[in-house]
Amino acid sequence: MKAVIFTKYGSQDVLQLAEIEKPAPQADEVLVKIAATAVNPADNHLLSGMLRFSSGLLKPKNQIPGSDIAGRVEAVGRNVTGFQVGDAVFGDISGHGRGGFAEYVAVPESALALKPANISFAEAAAVPMTAVTALQGLRDQGHLQAGQQVLINGASGGVGTFAVQIARALGGEVTAVVSTHKIEMARSLGASHTVDYTQEDFTQTGQQYDLVFDTVGNHSVAACRRALKPAGHFVTTTFLPTLLILGPWISFRDGQKMVNMMAKPNRQDLLFLKSLLETGQVVAVIDRCYGLDEVPQALRYLQEGHAKGKVIVSIS
Ligand SMILES: NC(=O)c1ccc[n+]([C@@H]2O[C@H](COP(=O)([O-])OP(=O)(O)OC[C@H]3O[C@@H](n4cnc5c(N)ncnc54)[C@H](OP(=O)(O)O)[C@@H]3O)[C@@H](O)[C@H]2O)c1
Repeated sequence: MKAVIFTKYGSQDVLQLAEIEKPAPQADEVLVKIAATAVNPADNHLLSGMLRFSSGLLKPKNQIPGSDIAGRVEAVGRNVTGFQVGDAVFGDISGHGRGGFAEYVAVPESALALKPANISFAEAAAVPMTAVTALQGLRDQGHLQAGQQVLINGASGGVGTFAVQIARALGGEVTAVVSTHKIEMARSLGASHTVDYTQEDFTQTGQQYDLVFDTVGNHSVAACRRALKPAGHFVTTTFLPTLLILGPWISFRDGQKMVNMMAKPNRQDLLFLKSLLETGQVVAVIDRCYGLDEVPQALRYLQEGHAKGKVIVSIS
């Protein structure tokens, strides 16, 4: 099969399109013929060696990156009970050695869910990592309640486009922070208010929110606090080192909760998102599609930091 592999850390230039052996599923695994995969900032972090403490200190332990997959079940191991050959599935395989930038991957059935029938493979591949991150950030870390005011910083990217829609589905009143030419999109996804970050700084407007969900990490902890109500929550998908110390202190002293979050892929949340996709409450916004031989270009484009929704790689 064809796969995009890397054997050393570096820029996107270390990626090579290679012909390698097609995997065979173990007893509890499903072999998926991948139709589409998405690129994520985490793929660029993986390539650069930023994750080397888990991905291999000197060189990558697993040679095929790619976490989000959508495709059809080609074969199942003898202990697999939840899927049959031919089922359309999607999932985040980052906890199982990755391998999404390939024609086939064998993964435990626990990583997968049936694809919503009303969306394409490309749309399904856009969902797992970013939408689960948005869901867990808003619901589990941010404790978003119906009727609350939530601001989403970076509302036009992979995580942000899902966050706007999920916040709305959970009953929040959404303010989206975007650049001028993405205001219309944010409104069409369900934002009631927008802040154009090229004109205005949301931490300086005097407006305060029950929840600030941040996917950019471009403001200090002190600045973000100004945008929080007295018992408000701040959740960032990026990493603000000062929060490690200031977060617990602020919580103890003033009652505001401010955290760096790390999403945990799981099938229950994927099924929750599947129901939102089936009812049309959430849709995948796709910016561009690349081919498998164009994964380096897809990752470079994502790294520029201006994607409008998700960047997809179509495989079969
Ligand atoms: N912690 C976790 O578990 C987890 C999981 C997934 C992702 N992440 C992280 O979350 C972050 C976002 O991921 P992503 O997939 O959403 O990235 P992305 O798709 O690359 O985000 C790009 C978007 O950010 C917007 N943006 C850039 N600068 C901005 C600013 N100053 N203010 C507001 N919006 C701005 C861009 O809009 P313009 O083009 O208009 O500038 C663009 O639409 C990344 O750091 C990623 O590593 C963490």
